[in-house]
Amino acid sequence: MPKIEKIKPSQTSTKDFLSIVKQMRATLTSSISTEEKEPDKIVHSEIHKERSKVINTAIFASKALGSISRKFIKTGIDGLDSLLVEGIPKGAAVIICGGTGSGKTILNLQLMANSCENNMKCLYLTLEESESRLIEHMFDFGWDARNYIKDGRLMFLRLNPFDIMRNVDALLAKEKGELLIDVKPVIIPGDFKPEVIFVDSLTAISAAFIGRKDTYRIYIEKLFRYFEELQATTFLITETDQIPTRFSPTGTEEFLADGVIILYSIQRQNMRERAIEVLKMRGIAHQRKVVAMRIVRGSGIEIYPDQEVFVNLT
Ligand SMILES: Nc1ncnc2c1ncn2[C@@H]1O[C@H](COP(=O)(O)OP(=O)(O)OP(=O)(O)O)[C@@H](O)[C@H]1O
Ligand SMILES: [Mg+2]
Repeated sequence: MPKIEKIKPSQTSTKDFLSIVKQMRATLTSSISTEEKEPDKIVHSEIHKERSKVINTAIFASKALGSISRKFIKTGIDGLDSLLVEGIPKGAAVIICGGTGSGKTILNLQLMANSCENNMKCLYLTLEESESRLIEHMFDFGWDARNYIKDGRLMFLRLNPFDIMRNVDALLAKEKGELLIDVKPVIIPGDFKPEVIFVDSLTAISAAFIGRKDTYRIYIEKLFRYFEELQATTFLITETDQIPTRFSPTGTEEFLADGVIILYSIQRQNMRERAIEVLKMRGIAHQRKVVAMRIVRGSGIEIYPDQEVFVNLT
């Protein structure tokens, strides 16, 4: 074992330091790589490490700050932000559609966790899964929903689609076909003012309106208008085929929406491949391609904007 002399820090100047490095180098030649044999290079590599640390901190800070610009919201999912280029326009209503198991709920929960991290108030309207299941689901991916709820950044609201249908029906009967102008399609408790709203899902609402297509249309138009009044950015899930040609229950919601994001689960022989596409986003020039996506255990959705995926639409 080579012997290394201990030197007190107070005795050390830069010049001393270089000579210490030289001395160390001499004793440790066998264990030092050729690249590090020059002492200047060692000092340089330390400086480089420090600079990288500073740059990384700066990048981290700018990412956090960039998440809330005046006009656009970054999703916090790198690959998706790259497809969206500038981000999602604040106040937009965005449909997230796809077949069963394509990752719609997980994407929504991740967008919500990222928004909470950026101190935005979020409201999750769930018509399918219970609040506790969603909280557990988030926890599996490392998103601490309980913490967000505790400090007022997040509120879950469980709605029964049949209650909505009955209420709308009753109102329509009372008003002879005209839905009251000032009736809110969703009652948000207290003075909670959400900046981002998630609806999981419009398909569950529409299922309760079977045989009442027109009533559903009136309700859904009112819902979109209400979200617009709240000036909240909204993500609305719709259930479609695995390779959809229609993106919402009636085919009209996608025209009311400002954006449509499609999640694909494409069968390739005996496997399924995940992919994502930003089909439309009013007000921005987004990338127009279908790219690979993964749901990673413990961390959530990852999107690879440079890996294009072929989707056979015929
Ligand atoms: N903890 C996890 N880690 C990795 N992948 C997961 C995890 N939990 C679920 N998945 C994957 O995600 C899929 C379900 O995702 P999600 O619930 O978001 O789909 P969905 O589109 O909302 O489905 P549905 O239309 O049935 O509501 C599962 O089928 C599974 O493949
Ligand atoms: Mg779901």
